[in-house]
Amino acid sequence: MTAKLIDGKKIAQATRENLKKEVEELIEAGIKPGLAVILVGDNQASRTYVTSKQKSCKAIGMESILIELPESITENELLQHIEELNNRDDIHGILVQLPLPKHISDKKVIETISPEKDVDGFHPINIGKMMTGQDTFFPCTPFGIMEMLKYEGITIAGKNAVIVGRSNIVGKPMGQLLLNDNATVTYTHSKTKDLASCTKEADILVAAIGKAKMITSEYVKEGATVIDVGMNRDENGKLCGDVDFADVSNKAGHITPVPGGVGPMTITMLLYNTVKSAKNKLN
Ligand code: GUN
Repeated sequence: MTAKLIDGKKIAQATRENLKKEVEELIEAGIKPGLAVILVGDNQASRTYVTSKQKSCKAIGMESILIELPESITENELLQHIEELNNRDDIHGILVQLPLPKHISDKKVIETISPEKDVDGFHPINIGKMMTGQDTFFPCTPFGIMEMLKYEGITIAGKNAVIVGRSNIVGKPMGQLLLNDNATVTYTHSKTKDLASCTKEADILVAAIGKAKMITSEYVKEGATVIDVGMNRDENGKLCGDVDFADVSNKAGHITPVPGGVGPMTITMLLYNTVKSAKNKLN
């Protein structure tokens, strides 16, 4: 391996130490940051994520409440729960874990969350603010990646950044945040012709496709920074990313591992956004 490893766990820990101090200061000022998480149904993966989010809140001294609702809940009932949380002074962040059952519209749910408490950064108002270069809540995974790049001292301005994947949660906001910091951004996706010829131009390559080990060294320029958002199982059932780590780590300049790369930063930025929302109450 020649690439420098970007240690997401270490960066997450350092960031959480700082957040813990901010939480202490907020509590002294009479505000305990509170996150409400809504879990609908019993998707095991969602439950694992939600448990991890709650534990992380508590570990830095924040309040976290979990609202568990049955799969059979109606859309209107769910929207009422959100409205109640919008009106609670002790709740600074609201997160509805996705995916939701088919009979419930993601769009309606996201648009019902108050933009001031939208710590996922999914509300169209917050996305619009991000697109126009305003300060707001940024989606946690791409925001965490920006923090990792900055922590490692990787220059963004003027670099060619190529995003593989165009989801609303990762790919699209990732490109926007890199553009806001003056990268030249290319979005690629499943319909892109000759993907490798695009990705080989990347100084910063972000893989968010959801296909185990798809990005091999043939897709990567020598010395590139390679960020792996994937969370897949390989042929042996072992957790792996979208990047073939063993292969690409001999060609990249910097690389994130899976696990221990982007994952720990995603939750950290959720904590960051919730603390930010609580701080807004001081003004
Ligand atoms: N499901 C998978 N990732 C996320 C996320 O970042 N936020 C929410 N609310 N649900 C998710």
